[in-house]
Amino acid sequence: MIRCAIVGATGLVGSTFLKVIEEKKLPIDEFVLLASSKSKGKIIHFLDKDYIVEELNENSFDNNRFDYALFSAGSNISLKYAPIAVKNGCIVIDNSSAYRMNEDVPLVVKEVNKNMLIKHKGIISNPNCSTIQAVIPLKILNDLYCIKRVIFSTYQAVSGAGINGINDLNNTLTGKKANKFPYPIANNCLPHIDIFLENGYTKEEMKIIEETRKILNLPNLNITATAVRVPVKNCHCESINVELENDFDILDLKQQLNKIEGIVVHDMPEKQIYPIPTFVDGKDDVFIGRIRRDYSVKSGINFWCVADNIRKGAATNAVQILEELIKRNSHLD
Ligand SMILES: NC(=O)c1ccc[n+]([C@@H]2O[C@H](COP(=O)([O-])OP(=O)(O)OC[C@H]3O[C@@H](n4cnc5c(N)ncnc54)[C@H](OP(=O)(O)O)[C@@H]3O)[C@@H](O)[C@H]2O)c1
Repeated sequence: MIRCAIVGATGLVGSTFLKVIEEKKLPIDEFVLLASSKSKGKIIHFLDKDYIVEELNENSFDNNRFDYALFSAGSNISLKYAPIAVKNGCIVIDNSSAYRMNEDVPLVVKEVNKNMLIKHKGIISNPNCSTIQAVIPLKILNDLYCIKRVIFSTYQAVSGAGINGINDLNNTLTGKKANKFPYPIANNCLPHIDIFLENGYTKEEMKIIEETRKILNLPNLNITATAVRVPVKNCHCESINVELENDFDILDLKQQLNKIEGIVVHDMPEKQIYPIPTFVDGKDDVFIGRIRRDYSVKSGINFWCVADNIRKGAATNAVQILEELIKRNSHLD
């Protein structure tokens, strides 16, 4: 009997957890959907049943009620309730940034480092959406040619800021005031995601840098990042520049990328084929295009990387972790 809680089930990521779980038909017997007091009593149709949303509180995990919990209700909720869940025998897969850089918490992307799952002590973190889509191609580049330096420039969709981000795009497109972002996002690009830190970077930029180092197990890798919010509803785009230790053949590199689970190469500029958000929306793979040599260094490449930030960047990756844990634990039975 496997029981699973979904914390933040009414949010953008939480409702996508439900979609992905339905699609994957995981062997879970019982679900409980939790959210804030605002959603208490709300009915959500899921897996051919009507679920009544419960309000999350200190007793939600009592009596070892759950085997697993997927959290997506923000860092403060994770900081308060994930330890309570773990104390009650539950394994937590957390979507917030609360535990990602904690040494005892594996930060996992299935295609890159699922081997780290054995090290968990109750909490496993799902990386930031911009990090997840980048580390899959970076892992193979490092394995083949050894990465020296990475420069990220991100173009991030408003859905990355939750339901309020989407509302801001819709509202400001019709001339209404911005609530979530500091300026109207309609017809704008804002080089500002999350808070500014003392070092001049935003917290989002530092998350990309630090999480990439942790997942690739390259703690000293030279990385810099600029994260920009753009007026796109869904799917994050990234321009990634990578300097490599060893030389490469560009055709071979494209073929190697295409072979990797979770990557689709869309790269035929002569036919105007390259990844774009409206095509990638709703898909689980990471799409790569505009792959070309960087002639300004001895060995370097540029590429364009697009993924659905709510699916692979959040819900799909978390559900893949859950699937992997269930598989492993069933072998232990
Ligand atoms: N959007 C993305 O691309 C993305 C990607 C990766 C990670 N994440 C992370 O995932 C989390 C949720 O993001 P989102 O985009 O889904 O946000 P969202 O659409 O704003 O949803 C927030 C969810 O949290 C719940 N919640 C808020 N306060 C709560 C409380 N006091 N107790 C219980 N539940 C509460 C909300 O419930 P109510 O509906 O009842 O208010 C809702 O279900 C955040 O930590 C975010 O950083 C988001």
